[in-house]
Amino acid sequence: MRPEIKVFYHPPTSTLTYVVADRASARAAVIDPVLDYDVASGRISASAADEVIAWLRAQGLALDWILETHAHADHLSGAQHIKRALGGKVAIGEGIRSVQDHFARVFGVEAEVPADGSQFDQLFADGASFRIGALEGRALHTPGHTDDSLTYVIGDAAFVGDTMFMPDGGTARCDFPGGDARKLYRSLQRILALPADTRLFMCHDYQPGGRELRYETTIAAERAENAYLKVPLDQLGKPFKGA
Ligand SMILES: [Fe+2]
Repeated sequence: MRPEIKVFYHPPTSTLTYVVADRASARAAVIDPVLDYDVASGRISASAADEVIAWLRAQGLALDWILETHAHADHLSGAQHIKRALGGKVAIGEGIRSVQDHFARVFGVEAEVPADGSQFDQLFADGASFRIGALEGRALHTPGHTDDSLTYVIGDAAFVGDTMFMPDGGTARCDFPGGDARKLYRSLQRILALPADTRLFMCHDYQPGGRELRYETTIAAERAENAYLKVPLDQLGKPFKGA
């Protein structure tokens, strides 16, 4: 199963937003939509999310899901804006409760922000499955960067959030409240145990060394070339210990 994937790039935050489409049923999912926030003026706008909405409308695609790979620290989510325009359920990992609990304490807003994930339509547990038309998706819990981080596996494609970057970008930072390098290590082994030709799609690309934008790679390429994960060539294709 090789789903059609449309990419949107948001230069101010180096974020990639994806639409996964099932043309036969005219259903789709959006992954990690952005809401624009101008730091200088403090203004919010929805131009990036509106671009996604316009594309979906032009293609005649109805929306089943708006999927968050994790709670983002660097940008606001356009999920609610897109939901108001097109419907669809907003989903995130059930670890969002732990993230909300950590951040509510940091900012002293425990009373105003219930740490129960009730702001979302669906909380995915590890291994949860979902459908986009005839496509079947699976949520893998891959914490470390954040406790709620998920990798969405849809056909031969996997959307890894911030857990992993292009091979020259290494892997996630773990210094946010609740971040955990040990969990990240185990999550990376889990992702790397996916089939070697799995298409991997990044949530961000910071264009190390000023190179051109890149956001798609494979398990084989990550195992061979990732700056933090290099695997000896004679081990390529063999299962990782602890995977
Ligand atoms: Fe992130």
